[in-house]
Amino acid sequence: MKTYLVTGGAGFIGSNYILRLLESSESMKIINLDALTYAGNLENLQSIEQDSRYQFIHGNICDGTLLENIFSQNKIDYIINFAAESHVDRSIAEPRIFLDTNVGGAFQLLNAAKQAWEEPGGKFRTGVKFLQISTDEVYGSLGETGLFTEATPLDPHSPYSAAKASADLFVKAYVDTYGFPANITRCSNNYGPWQFPEKLIPLVINNAMNGRNIPVYGDGKNVRDWLHVSDHCRAIQTVLTQAKPSEVYNIGGNNERRNIEIINLILDAVQRRGYEKSTSRLITYVTDRKGHDRRYGIDPTKIKTDLGWEPQVSFVEGIKDTVDWYLDHMDWMKKVTDGSYMTYYQQMYGNR
Ligand code: NAD
Ligand code: TYD
Repeated sequence: MKTYLVTGGAGFIGSNYILRLLESSESMKIINLDALTYAGNLENLQSIEQDSRYQFIHGNICDGTLLENIFSQNKIDYIINFAAESHVDRSIAEPRIFLDTNVGGAFQLLNAAKQAWEEPGGKFRTGVKFLQISTDEVYGSLGETGLFTEATPLDPHSPYSAAKASADLFVKAYVDTYGFPANITRCSNNYGPWQFPEKLIPLVINNAMNGRNIPVYGDGKNVRDWLHVSDHCRAIQTVLTQAKPSEVYNIGGNNERRNIEIINLILDAVQRRGYEKSTSRLITYVTDRKGHDRRYGIDPTKIKTDLGWEPQVSFVEGIKDTVDWYLDHMDWMKKVTDGSYMTYYQQMYGNR
C-alpha cells in the first residue's frame, strides 16, 4: 500500500488528480497538504472527503516544521508537488510570493523528503519517488516553427516561469548530487473542471454566460498547446509509477490553438446552451500582457515512446464537456469568483 503526499491538492490539477486516484478501489493513503490560497477550494473534493483513504492537512509547503511532522507521522512513498502560485498575470503584478512558494516551498519539500528517505550510507529507501509538476513555460517562447523537447534549454520569461524553472533546477541538483529519486514533468496548458476562472478557458466561459466583455491580450494570435486535465493526470501517474528516477518528461497532445480560436469556440458553445449574449460582440482587445510568450508547443515523443502514454480526450469533445461542466456548476463559479478574484479582475480590467 502506497502513501501519497499530494501538495496543492485543492487546486485545479491537484483535485482532478486526487479524484481520479480515488476512483480506483485500491488501498492507498492520500494526504493532501494545501494552504488554501484563493486558488484552493475544498469543495472540489467534497465527493471524497469521507473516503477513509483520504486526509486533508491545511498547511504551507514552506513550513519546514510541519513537513517534518508529516514525514515523522507517516511513511510517505510518493510526493507529487502541485503546490504553486500558478497565474502569470499575478506573477507580473506580485512576483515575491512566486519565489516564496514555487522555489522556497519546493526546496523545503525536497529537503524534508531527503531527510525522511535517505538511509545511512546515502542510499534512498526503495520504492519512493518525488514528482515535481512543472510546466512547458520554463522553455520560454517558440517562433512560428519547432517544438519544446526535453533537451530544449530553459529560458523562462515571466516571474512565474522563472520560479518554476528554479524549482526544476533544485530538483535536478538533488538528483545529480544525492541521487535523490525524482522526476520532473513539464506539461502544456490544461483545461477541464475545477479550474479557477482567472485562466483563459474558464474566464471566457464565465464572462460569456454573464454577457461580460472578454479581454483578449494583444492580437489574440498567441498559441497555447491545450491538453485535457484528465490526460495530464494519467501522464503524471504513468511517470510516477513507471519512469526511471531522474528522467524529465514533456506532456502534451499536439493541440496548438490561437487564443482567439478558443474564445470563438467557447462563445459558440455557450450560445448553443441558450445564453444569447454570448457572441463575438463581447470580444475586447486589450493591452498585451508584459513579456507575453508567443507560442508554446510540446513534443511528447519521449513519454509516448518510453512509457506508452497517449492523450485520450479529443479537443472538440473536451471543450464541449468543459463548457457544459462550468454551466452546470454555476454555484461553484459564483462562489470562487466572489471576493478576492473579482477585486483582482476589476483592478486589471475595470468594471466592464
Ligand atoms: P492552482 O493555482 O489551481 O492550484 C494551486 C494549489 O496550490 C491551490 O490549491 C493552492 O491553495 C495551493 N498552494 C499554493 N501555495 C501553496 C503553499 N505555499 N503551500 C501549500 N499549498 C499551496 O494551480 P494548477 O493549475 O492546479 O497547477 C498545479 C501545478 O501544475 C502547478 O505547480 C503549476 O505550475 C503546474 N502546471 C499547471 C498547468 C496549467 O495549465 N494549469 C500546466 C502545467 C503545469
Ligand atoms: P492563461 O490561461 O493565463 O495561461 P498561460 O499564460 O499560463 O499560458 O492564458 C492563456 C493565453 O490566453 C495566454 O496567451 C494569455 C491569454 N489570455 C487572454 O488573452 N485574456 C485573458 O483574460 C487571459 C486570462 C489570458
